[in-house]
Amino acid sequence: MTSAIVAQGLSKVYPRGGVTALSGVDLEIPAGDVFGLIGRNGAGKTTFVRVAATQLMPSAGHLSVLGHDVAQAADRIRPRIAAVPQESRPLYFLTVDQLVYLYLRLRGHERSDARERTDRVLAELDLTSIAHRLVSRLSGGMRRRAMVAMVLASDAEVLFLDEPTTGLDPIARREVWAAIRRARRERRTVLLTTHYLDEAEALSSRVALLDGGRVRLEGTPAELRQRVRLPYRVTVEGVLTRGELEPYGEVSEVNGAHLVFAREREARELAMAALGRGARVAMGPVSLEDIFLQVVGRRLDDESPVEEPA
Ligand SMILES: Nc1ncnc2c1ncn2[C@@H]1O[C@H](COP(=O)(O)OP(=O)(O)OP(=O)(O)O)[C@@H](O)[C@H]1O
Ligand SMILES: [Mg+2]
Repeated sequence: MTSAIVAQGLSKVYPRGGVTALSGVDLEIPAGDVFGLIGRNGAGKTTFVRVAATQLMPSAGHLSVLGHDVAQAADRIRPRIAAVPQESRPLYFLTVDQLVYLYLRLRGHERSDARERTDRVLAELDLTSIAHRLVSRLSGGMRRRAMVAMVLASDAEVLFLDEPTTGLDPIARREVWAAIRRARRERRTVLLTTHYLDEAEALSSRVALLDGGRVRLEGTPAELRQRVRLPYRVTVEGVLTRGELEPYGEVSEVNGAHLVFAREREARELAMAALGRGARVAMGPVSLEDIFLQVVGRRLDDESPVEEPA
């Protein structure tokens, strides 16, 4: 596996406020894949993206992109990457079409190539009908899509998309997903941060969960599932009381039903028992969202929710 991005013992302390945003992060992001970075607000996702996109210097440790160290050779990296920041303030006096076209021209694309790429990406992200509108007059979601279009239209080998679909309607979101999938087919590397865990699961080959500036879990979604202590979810509607469910696993209440995280044997036993009593039951492996909740949502529990990796 060739890596597009390698972080070794990476730390970042913001001088103002002395906040440690990243603390000893080791990560290898394979080339040609979509890699999902997830974690709570303030976990350090944007900081990681900004260091990798050569916008911030590391405080300690190393990070290399396409084989070049960000602290030593940022100018070798920059022409080969493109980033949509989390807070993007595009040039408001441009139209959507001009925004994408000028961005490509600045990156060195010839006129005809820039024109062709602009038209293609605007069609792909369903922006053709607003191509001639000023960016300043767009809704927040449209503006976000325009920024995503700009980056995807480039020929950058590594794309940084920091919450590209936050605030988008469900249809626009799917259009961005399709564009990200096309980038993957083109064997580009995409580093994606998102709070939509279905999105991380649908698009990413591997996922890292950051928590307090550290990597808590990393792997394919299937690998992560095997590493949590309670890898099955059983929902039980009606009949059984919470007290009757508790011996099987961890119980919570969701939309009037009980959700139980359990080990495989207990999950099966519970499903059989609940069916026998006439309850409505659904059983399956945990989702990425369940894993997230198990790992970072229960800090007050004494018992570590994650088994130590072998
Ligand atoms: N420019 C800055 N100066 C000082 N501290 C900062 C700065 N940017 C971020 N931080 C702090 O660094 C930590 C990590 O922030 P970061 O923006 O990387 O989190 P995030 O995972 O992207 O969160 P979110 O999901 O809210 O976007 C937080 O404690 C934040 O307050
Ligand atoms: Mg962020």
